[in-house]
Amino acid sequence: EIRRKFLDFFVQKGHKEVHSSSLVPANDPTLLFTNAGMNQFKDVFLGLEKRDYSRATTSQKCVRAGGKHNDLENVGFTNRHHTFFEMLGNFSFGDYFKKDAIAYAWELITSPEWFGIDKSKLYVTIFKGAEVSPGQLLGSDREALVQWVNVGVPQSRIHQMGMQDNFWQMGDTGPCGPCSEIHYDMGAAASDQGHTDCTFGCDCGRYVEIWNLVFMQFDRDSSGKLNPLPKPSIDTGMGLERVTAVLQGVISKYETDLV
Ligand code: GLY
Repeated sequence: EIRRKFLDFFVQKGHKEVHSSSLVPANDPTLLFTNAGMNQFKDVFLGLEKRDYSRATTSQKCVRAGGKHNDLENVGFTNRHHTFFEMLGNFSFGDYFKKDAIAYAWELITSPEWFGIDKSKLYVTIFKGAEVSPGQLLGSDREALVQWVNVGVPQSRIHQMGMQDNFWQMGDTGPCGPCSEIHYDMGAAASDQGHTDCTFGCDCGRYVEIWNLVFMQFDRDSSGKLNPLPKPSIDTGMGLERVTAVLQGVISKYETDLV
C-alpha cells in the first residue's frame, strides 16, 4: 500500500510509472549492482538518451553491498540498513527542479491525504557548500533553503551539511549534485547508545534519513572534474522499508510487516 501510494502520488503529478530495472545494470561497466533508482536513467540525465516522458517514478530494487554506497558493514548492527532494499523515487529529466521537488516531497510525506507524517518529527538537511572537485567550489544551497522555508519548515529544523551528507553521486564518475535529505526522529527508544536527550545530527540511530532529493546538475568525469549536465534534473530516493517503519510506528525495519 505504501509503495502504491508513493507511485500514485507521482503519477497524479504527471510522472510515468516505470518498472524497477534489473539488479544487474544494463551496459554500465562502472557498477556491479543497481544501487539507486536513478541508475536506469543515467544516460537520460547525461543527455545521451531520450525518452518519451520527462518525469518518471519507480520503486527500484537495489543492492548496496560494495562499491561507493556500501551498507554491508552496517547490516545487523543498525535498525535501518539492509543490503537489499527498495528505493522509491521520482525523477525529472530537465523538467521541474528544486522548487517542485521540495513541494512534492513535503506534500506527500505530511499531507493527511497521503503519508500524514507528523511535521514535528521531521528535519531537513541542505548542502552547506564545499570544494566539490579540486579547485571547483560550490556555494551553500540557498535556493533549497528558501524552498523549504516556503513550504513551512522552520529554519531551526533546516541543517546545513557538507559533501558526505549533502552531495550525492552514483559512483566515482557519472551524474551528481547537491542534495537535500529529510530525516525522521524515531525517538529515544531508537538510540543504539541509549541517548535520552541527543539532538538532530547525532548518529546514534535516533534520526533516520527517509528521503534524499538530489539536484542533479553535473557529470563527474574520470579526472574528477564536474561538467554541467545538459539540463538541471531531479533524482530522489526514499527507503521503502524505512518509511514503512515510520508509518507503522516501529523503530526498526525488521519490525515492519515487510519482514
Ligand atoms: N539517488 C539518490 C539516493 O540514492 O539517495
